[in-house]
Amino acid sequence: MNIVETENKYTSGVYAKQALTIVRGKGASLFDVDGNEYLDCSSGHGVANLGHAHPKIAEALYKQASTLITLFESFPNDQRAALMEKICALVPGLDRVFFCNSGTEAVEASFKFARISTGRKNIVAAMRAFHGRTYGSLSATFNKKYREGFEPLVPGFCHVAYNNIEALDKAVTDETAAVILEVIQGEGGVYPANAEYIQFARRICDERGALLIVDEIQSGFGRTGKIFAIEHYGITPDLLTCAKSLAGGVPMGAVLIGRNVKNLTPGVHGTTFGGNPLVCAAAIAALNVIEEEDLPGQAAAKGKYLMEKLQEINSPNIREVRGLGLMVGIEIKQKVAPYIKALQENRVIAINAGLTVIRLLPPLVITYEQIDHLVEVLAEVLAADYEADKRM
Ligand SMILES: Cc1ncc(COP(=O)(O)O)c(C=O)c1O
Repeated sequence: MNIVETENKYTSGVYAKQALTIVRGKGASLFDVDGNEYLDCSSGHGVANLGHAHPKIAEALYKQASTLITLFESFPNDQRAALMEKICALVPGLDRVFFCNSGTEAVEASFKFARISTGRKNIVAAMRAFHGRTYGSLSATFNKKYREGFEPLVPGFCHVAYNNIEALDKAVTDETAAVILEVIQGEGGVYPANAEYIQFARRICDERGALLIVDEIQSGFGRTGKIFAIEHYGITPDLLTCAKSLAGGVPMGAVLIGRNVKNLTPGVHGTTFGGNPLVCAAAIAALNVIEEEDLPGQAAAKGKYLMEKLQEINSPNIREVRGLGLMVGIEIKQKVAPYIKALQENRVIAINAGLTVIRLLPPLVITYEQIDHLVEVLAEVLAADYEADKRM
């Protein structure tokens, strides 16, 4: 079978397909069908924080799959109870949890919880924000590229400039159910928030009776050098959404819930697969690995090393390098698409964030040698000027 042709024949069409078939992964490496090794600096859009094919995840999955795979959350289960206790110990003040299966589902749940809790309808989100592609999340997502063609979206949503205290002050009223923010915008271009802005958001929500939702779907589980990026800012939201690497690569989402969230009674929300024993076992194993291997510490140290090395690249093409831990954006003066392609030709897999930012989200277990190699390849690739022809 020709794998590329087969996928191209049967795909829904909603993904821009690469002509690169990946069949295996190990740590920060991916291998194509011919055994060629690629350095993965995307982690499947920020999922593989633990590295690919971590043996502890494989072991937990095998063991639990031979014991019990599925069980609706109405019935208590040993794996789910253990995970609940573990995940609710991560952020003091967030001591309840709702499990689901993806990032967008966690965001959807947080909006429903905010509306049912406050009895209000309005949600304030940020410009450049990305929160997912189902209707509620899409209504909070800013970029019209994701929204166009799908209107009408959910009413009650508005967007205000990110990192702008006055704009937020004006937008939050006594009809606001929630403010939703990423503390470091990922898809929107890798923009960390200012501490004063996030702290203001916390204060204004308290004063006006709105809930603060922080979306840590991309920034969570060690990625920025802390378990959650909120730890850099010293605030606790009312609702925290997470997913991606929560279960070591197996699909899972969660909403951590604070004490201000009310009215979560039986039937208000639910999902068939949420909190099934298989994925809970994987998540317990993932959280153990994050702790045992000090992945947040690794991300902090390696992120600093990577940033310093990137600052040394002497390319007139680089506008800015920014980020937190191993969530890094390189903003360049040209469109990134040809650079991402050139990186891939040099066996480095990276992703974009918007039109002009190369986004690096490597597994947190990437080695220092791999970081050196990444920087070498980046320096080489960024030396090219793909828009020179157009200027002539
Ligand atoms: C900040 C943020 N929120 C929500 C989502 C949506 O998650 P999912 O693709 O699992 O639905 C993403 C995905 O990239 C994200 O980065």
